[in-house]
Amino acid sequence: MILSMLILAAALNWLVTSHQMILGFYALPTLISAYVYGRRHATLTAVASVGLVGILAWSNNQLLPAVTDTGALPISRWYGLFSWGAILILTAYAMGTLHERHKNRVAELRQTYHGVLLILRQFVAKDKYTENHSYRVSVYAAKIAARMGFASSRIDDIRAAALLHDIGKLDVSRQLLYKASTLSSSEVEHIGQHEPMGGDILDPVGGPLRRILPAILAHHEKYDGSGDQALRGEEIPVEARIIAVADVYDALTSDRPYRKAMSSFEARDIILKGSGVDFDPAVVQAFQREMDRNGMEVPEIFL
Ligand SMILES: [Fe+2]
Ligand SMILES: [Fe+2]
Repeated sequence: MILSMLILAAALNWLVTSHQMILGFYALPTLISAYVYGRRHATLTAVASVGLVGILAWSNNQLLPAVTDTGALPISRWYGLFSWGAILILTAYAMGTLHERHKNRVAELRQTYHGVLLILRQFVAKDKYTENHSYRVSVYAAKIAARMGFASSRIDDIRAAALLHDIGKLDVSRQLLYKASTLSSSEVEHIGQHEPMGGDILDPVGGPLRRILPAILAHHEKYDGSGDQALRGEEIPVEARIIAVADVYDALTSDRPYRKAMSSFEARDIILKGSGVDFDPAVVQAFQREMDRNGMEVPEIFL
């Protein structure tokens, strides 16, 4: 893109009479280069622009105003061109530096944000199982999202939502969460409230955590509309549809107080059967492809 803009600027420079005006156009590829690639590329783009204009000015004596009849450019004309080139290169260097600083600052903030989320899951969890459950769900959800072709910033949001998806269980007692016997209907209803309770906890927080709120609020919705909020299909945020598959897969493949863990193949079959009913078929398809290609492995070091 940068190259094609440079070529376009050169072509305009060659064809249009008001060359001084066209010189301003070279700032565009330089600024875009600074914004996308940083200081080094921006400076190189500016140097290339200056070189290009220099060659054009040398080969076409109509290019700069008041060129002498002999085709030689007077010193004053070259001085103008030199000043313009120096300003362009300086601008490129400054813009590139500022952009790189900004990028580093954002990267630092992202690192801090993810570090805080990882620490937070320890407080959200009431025991090692829940803590590791959140982490594993975040790994599975990120793998499915990557398989579905999501951009990395969206995958970051899905990972964060998955890490905090059960934050509402903070308000559910430990005895109730790990009760081995059958739950009464009021107990089931209370546990079922952990989605809105999670929403209440995160509601005052802004920024990326506010973005992931809809995913947390809907992570137990069913694709066919039979969930608590009766959201159906596309009405359920896609992040929530992804977390739903990751959440159920992890629950099935973990030991629970009331049953032993299933094998990953048994869990996969249950998820495949739920496609179009409990789960989004597109998410299930991505889950299956990821299972077939890499398996749903979670790095041991974090567990
Ligand atoms: Fe949940
Ligand atoms: Fe969960």
